[in-house]
Order: sequence, then structure tokens, then C-alpha cells
Amino acid sequence: DLVPVLPGKPTQVWRYSGNLLKGPEQTLTAPPDSYLGPLLRLTKGQKVRIRLRNELPEQTITHWHGLHVPMDADGHPMAAIESGQTYVYEFEVKNRASFNFYHPHTHEATATQVYHGLAGGILIEDEEERALGLPSGAYEIPLVIQDRSFDDANQLAYWGGMHRNMFGFYGERILVNGRPNYTIDVDSRTYRLRLLNGSNARIYKLMWDDGTPLTVIGVDGGLLEKPEKRPYVMFAPAERIDLWVDFSGRPVGSKLVMRSGEFSGLVPPMAQRMMGGGLFVGDDYPLFAATVTRAVSDSPKLPEKLATIRHSRREELANPDRPRPIALTMGHMQLALNGRTYESDNVMDIERIPVGTTQLFEIYHDHGGGMGGMGMGGMGMGGGMMGGMGGMGMMGMMDMAHPVHLHGEPFEVLSRVYEGRDADAYATVRDGLIDSGLKDTVLVGPGEVIRIAKPFNDYKGRFMYHCHNLEHEDMGMMREFSVE
Ligand code: C2O
Ligand code: CU
Ligand code: CU
Repeated sequence: DLVPVLPGKPTQVWRYSGNLLKGPEQTLTAPPDSYLGPLLRLTKGQKVRIRLRNELPEQTITHWHGLHVPMDADGHPMAAIESGQTYVYEFEVKNRASFNFYHPHTHEATATQVYHGLAGGILIEDEEERALGLPSGAYEIPLVIQDRSFDDANQLAYWGGMHRNMFGFYGERILVNGRPNYTIDVDSRTYRLRLLNGSNARIYKLMWDDGTPLTVIGVDGGLLEKPEKRPYVMFAPAERIDLWVDFSGRPVGSKLVMRSGEFSGLVPPMAQRMMGGGLFVGDDYPLFAATVTRAVSDSPKLPEKLATIRHSRREELANPDRPRPIALTMGHMQLALNGRTYESDNVMDIERIPVGTTQLFEIYHDHGGGMGGMGMGGMGMGGGMMGGMGGMGMMGMMDMAHPVHLHGEPFEVLSRVYEGRDADAYATVRDGLIDSGLKDTVLVGPGEVIRIAKPFNDYKGRFMYHCHNLEHEDMGMMREFSVE
């Protein structure tokens, strides 16, 4: 389809154009002014049927990121369909209220398919959340943040070659809901902004330009127990952030800008330089703006308590003393998990999970180049103990943050320990890492060791876990669990 993106010539994109049927048969229409797919609105408990018809010139399959669904509705790469074929998804919405993400999960083509436009949001609501009376309707705004590069004819350019594959794609322009220089007109009252990082690889450091702290009310898996104020929030690919914003008292005509602030240590600067182009990750640049256009007098107040989250207790973990490893390996031109790349149908023992259990995982950067799980975690940038391939200098230069995503039910982050040596760099991101609430994607920076408790209830089968830097995913930084 040709859709407007930049001023001038329209852009050729791939998109979810509304052949999605849900619930009582109903066709959704894609927004006319954006390449993003239609926003799916679902309710907890609802039974959903979605029909995906592939009109692309290549294979595809769609994944409902964040949703806890059976394997055959999860968009496993093995379920990819050819051009002209149709795939029917059927599932019940088990998730609590949350903002989720649908996108292709095609073997070795996820990055390019998402890049060319295939992405959309899923808003789930439930009674617990509705009872809070949070801003809704026009006062609840989904914002999908992405970066893209364009050629002179306004067409999408997927630049970067080998370096792009190794470090991820970083575009020169920020798009929000598919448009540049995005501005929302707001009343002087409270709003709920539902942010989704739909970028292939770019990590943002969200902050308001006037120094107002961010009030975070939710993350990937829905509302936090109580609001958290942060000076800034780190925002990795596929993560969602639910923000409460109070424009009351701000004069008509005033403007509040969301920026991405400066940080270091997560993406090697040389990686970006080699890719060319501007807009470095870690530089300061604007994302979108809100302009107050109308004065109103009342609006909902921020509740002190938002939700009840049932935390998994130590005795409920299947392996409280022996965490299963997820070692992030970035050796000599080889990205991997636990030393192995994606191979359908060859599950390691540590990837076999009994259904109905909650598992403790430890996620860390492995510089040993092989099977981890043995205290290799947290050697950090330039840390000692190099093994396998690649020299120390190489590793130090290449080590970068990975947003690690596990399919299925959301998990709890139990701990995050920094064992790296670049305390100055870490200080630029530390206060923006939100580990409360329920997550399905967690950013693991160099030197960090993160423990999560992840439930595997209801469904047996193969469920993916991978880096959500989409270029990394396609390079093989993906594996699957066999839930049995
Ligand atoms: Cu959003 Cu397996 O991915
Ligand atoms: Cu997913
Ligand atoms: Cu990665």
C-alpha cells in the first residue's frame, strides 16, 4: 500500500490492512493516515478469532506479543504461511488489562517485515482496571514509537548491511503512530499515554523536556501496584510504558515535549558510526509533543493504588536454587542464546519445562562463548575470563544491551544486579529501569545479571524466547522452550 508518512510523496509499505476479524465477526479498518495496523481492542475473557490472509510476496506469520495463547495461536515461525494462504487464530484472552503488540514472526524475516510497516497495537481491558476510572476515550492515547530511514523519494531505506545485522537497525527519523514530528492536542487535564516501542533496535531514554518526572502507572503486563515517579525511563524494543500525564494548570498554547535523553553504555558508539546516518542512540532528540489547546476544569485524579499483583513466592518456584540460564552470547560475529542459535526442533534439556510450573531464570552476558549457567554472568564490559572465540578488545567493543523477550505469560523481575565496571555509563540509565509489575521483555545491559520468575501455565508446546532487537532475532538470537 501507499500511505502518507513524510510530507510529499507517499511511501510504499507493507501493512495489516484490516482483514483481521475478531470476536463477533467484525472487520477492523486500518487508520487511513498511518501504516500501522488497526488497533485491536480486546477484553479479558473474550474469545477471539482472527483471520490472517497473506498478500505479501513472501511467507509470513503474525505473533500477538504479550498474549498468553496456545502454541498454534502464537505465531510460531514454523506456522508461517505462503502468499495467498490464510491462517486462522483462535484463542481466549487470558491476559489482564494491558497494551500489547502484534507483528510478524517470520523465520529470518521478522526485522524486514516489521520495518516495512507490519505492526499494530492490542489494547486489552478488564474489570479491575475499568473500576479505577482512569482517563479513557480521547484521554487515553496509544503512541507507537519507531525509527526509520528514507531515501530521496520518501521510500523506506533499510540501510546498514552487515553492521545493521550485528547491532540492529537505527533509523534517522523518529515516527510516532507512523508519522514524523508527532504532536497531540490535549485539554488541560489528566491523560493516559500508552507507549509501545515498535522500533527494530533503538533504545530510548524517555524524559519530559521541562524536567517534570514521568509518572509510570504500567508496563508490559499491565498496571503496576502503585504509580512510580522517575526522572526518566529506559524504553527498549517491544517494551510498553503506561504514563499518567497531568496537563491541568498548563496554559493553553503551552507545549510539553517528550525527548530521548543522553545515555551511554548500552549500544557501542562505533556500531552506530559504522552504520552511518544521524540520530545516534544515546544522543538527545525529541520524540513527540503535546500542545494544550483547551482549558478544562476537572479530570480524574491519580489513584494511590492501581492493582493487586500476585507475586510468586520462593516456595512456588520449581528451581529456587538452580536458575535456568539465558546466556546472551555475542561472540565473534555470532549472536546466540546459551551458545546456540535458533534451530527448530532441537531442544536442549534446560529448555524443557514442565507445564504448570514457575521457573527461575538468570539472564546475563556470557563472554565464554559457550553454555553458561555457571557464574559466567556479569563479567561485564571488558571483563576478564575470555574464552571461545574473539579477543577481549573485540568483546568490549561489541558488548551491548539486549531486550530479552519470553513468549507466553508475563514474568516478574526478581533482581537486577550490575557487576560491570563502567559505573559512569551505568549511572546514565540505572534510575530509568523499571522492574516492578509484570514484564514480557526485559532490557539486559552489559554487566547486568537479572533474575526472573516466569510461569508456564495452561499450554504445552513450543514457545519462543529471543532478543527483541529484531536484527539479532533474525541472526539466530532466538531459541524455544518445550513446555511439556
Ligand atoms: Cu514481539 Cu517473539 O516477539
Ligand atoms: Cu512475543
Ligand atoms: Cu540482542
